Amino acid sequence: MKILVTGGAGFIGSNFVNLTLTTRTDIEVTVLDALTYAGNLQNLESSEGRYKFVEGDICDSALVDSLVAANDLVINFAAETHNDLSLVAPDKFIQTNILGTMALIKACQKHSIRYHHISTDEVFGDLPLDTLEQFTNDTPYNPSSPYSASKASSDLLVRAWVRSFGLKATISNCSNNFGPFQNSEKFIPRTVRLANAGLKPKIYGQGLNVRDWIHVDDHNRGLWAIIDKGRIGQTYLLGTNNQRTNLSVVKLVLEYFGLPSDHFEHVEDRAGHDQRYAIDSSVTQKELDWHPELGRFEEQLAQVIPYYLNDDVDISTISHSGHTNLNT
Ligand SMILES: NC(=O)c1ccc[n+]([C@@H]2O[C@H](COP(=O)([O-])OP(=O)(O)OC[C@H]3O[C@@H](n4cnc5c(N)ncnc54)[C@H](O)[C@@H]3O)[C@@H](O)[C@H]2O)c1
Repeated sequence: MKILVTGGAGFIGSNFVNLTLTTRTDIEVTVLDALTYAGNLQNLESSEGRYKFVEGDICDSALVDSLVAANDLVINFAAETHNDLSLVAPDKFIQTNILGTMALIKACQKHSIRYHHISTDEVFGDLPLDTLEQFTNDTPYNPSSPYSASKASSDLLVRAWVRSFGLKATISNCSNNFGPFQNSEKFIPRTVRLANAGLKPKIYGQGLNVRDWIHVDDHNRGLWAIIDKGRIGQTYLLGTNNQRTNLSVVKLVLEYFGLPSDHFEHVEDRAGHDQRYAIDSSVTQKELDWHPELGRFEEQLAQVIPYYLNDDVDISTISHSGHTNLNT
């Protein structure tokens, strides 16, 4: 099978390519990536020489059309993904996340190519802190930020193309990922790098917001389950039930580095900051026989932290990234 992986030089996409090329022998991979600040070919170092790379924009319809026509499947990771940035510079989010998706699905429809759309649980908005409620396939869309609104829009376009034009598509909405190669603008790598440098990690408000963490490899194995066994037109929720407050994640990182548990700084909360995410993936797990393979969140985190310790990221670019605030 020939697959086109858009956004394959970013965090989740590069892990997907690396996992695919080590676990599947029957797949030819082409990566299409615009190499924005979030894309980095070094993430694909372990796959060097085993994939084709095309530098380009998913909004470039002519380029997309020719690449789609030459493949059997398109899996779309390409997106603007930083919530904070979407509050100060939303235009690019609308462009890439909505119009880029449209260019891809139009080409997939034209050439009758299977399309898988990567999305987020943030399309559902948030849940109150004091309930045990989880997102399900029946939860209405209620996005809070320009980022999540653009992702919600793209999901709806895909659904409309399935219904109106018979597009052979599936969608997945996944919870917060962590793992190697995540950009330092995001909560876990940023916290790890700051703590490693002896600096105080920043935390929005009281830090009681809850995120439902999934290791990127569990996410990517879920994506293969959908590609292999998913039903066309279906939306699959992916998550591994690791709900933690931001405060508790910061404290775990501090403990890893032997720092005092109060070695962090509270900063003003982000506008529209979602309270709690929690995803019920039981339907996906049952239908596709996909189950998380990795252990407890705390153990996974301890294995991921070392990925962020020995590279050449300049710590000063993290504390002064130009975004409105500091956590995802
Ligand atoms: N990170 C998470 O926790 C999470 C959770 C659920 C879903 N998602 C979704 O997964 C997907 C990937 O997220 P990520 O965290 O890996 O993002 P990322 O920001 O790390 O990577 C995005 C990649 O897309 C590329 N890109 C951006 N605009 C492009 C364009 N116009 N044309 C071609 N390439 C372009 C970038 O260069 C980069 O390589 C996104 O759709 C995101 O919404 C992310």
